[in-house]
Amino acid sequence: MNKFSKNLEINRQSWEDRTAVHLKSKFYDLESFKKNTMSLKPFELEGLGEVKEKSLLHLQCHFGQDSLSWARKGAKVTAVDFSPSAIKAAKALSEELGIKAEFIESNVLTLDLKQEFDVVFMSYGTLGWLPDLKKWGAVVAKHLKQGGTFFISEFHPVLNILDEKTQFGYFFDENTPTIKEIGSYTDGGEDMTTEYCWWNHSLSEIFVALESNGLKLQSFAEFDYSPYKIKGTVERRKGQYVLENRTKQSLPYVFTLKATKK
Ligand SMILES: C[S@@+](CC[C@H](N)C(=O)[O-])C[C@H]1O[C@@H](n2cnc3c(N)ncnc32)[C@H](O)[C@@H]1O
Repeated sequence: MNKFSKNLEINRQSWEDRTAVHLKSKFYDLESFKKNTMSLKPFELEGLGEVKEKSLLHLQCHFGQDSLSWARKGAKVTAVDFSPSAIKAAKALSEELGIKAEFIESNVLTLDLKQEFDVVFMSYGTLGWLPDLKKWGAVVAKHLKQGGTFFISEFHPVLNILDEKTQFGYFFDENTPTIKEIGSYTDGGEDMTTEYCWWNHSLSEIFVALESNGLKLQSFAEFDYSPYKIKGTVERRKGQYVLENRTKQSLPYVFTLKATKK
């Protein structure tokens, strides 16, 4: 049995709980999404660029909003998540909107689709759920064509250590505690308590995981706001959210990273 299989099972259950809440949340605003089918933010739209006719693998796709947004922009999308309810909801959404994408239920760390893609994509709230970034880097590399592009827009590991309640350290801690949370990061779910395990990963750990698996860094950027209204933030300009108790301090909220398979 893998050292982290118990933690991953706790997390899978947590995502089963969360998905039910998220589908009804204002945060994900499913009804508006159904009307305009675009959930992607400028960071990834501009950072990744043209995807028309490209094969795109989306890791940790949740219930498919970003996957279907890329498909609407012309990508041939395959999307993966380990939560059965998220995959079920994603398939239903794809069917309802008439936008084609393949949704697969799998743990990212054991994924082996025996297929190489032009693009591997992931975004916002993904790496912290993975206890082994070396394995993750290998999965990304295995699913990319030579010369293919990996792109991630993700919450910055510094942002994650500012949470007073969880008190995560900056560097990876294999003995991370199991945390109890009422509700989720979205609105709703006040009557739900969920347990989860989460691992912070330093920037150097992320770079090494990719480089040691044959990916070459193309671009890297850090941003001083979140494009999502995460808890504890206020809107300082349209679509730019910063922590309410840190409005005068410039902090890294998000990073984007683009790499190529050598
Ligand atoms: C914050 S969400 C995805 C982010 C996406 N930007 C969104 O907001 O829809 C994180 C997703 O990672 C998935 N996940 C967590 N650990 C995973 C794992 N080991 N393998 C596959 N999916 C995983 C969860 O089920 C969840 O759907």
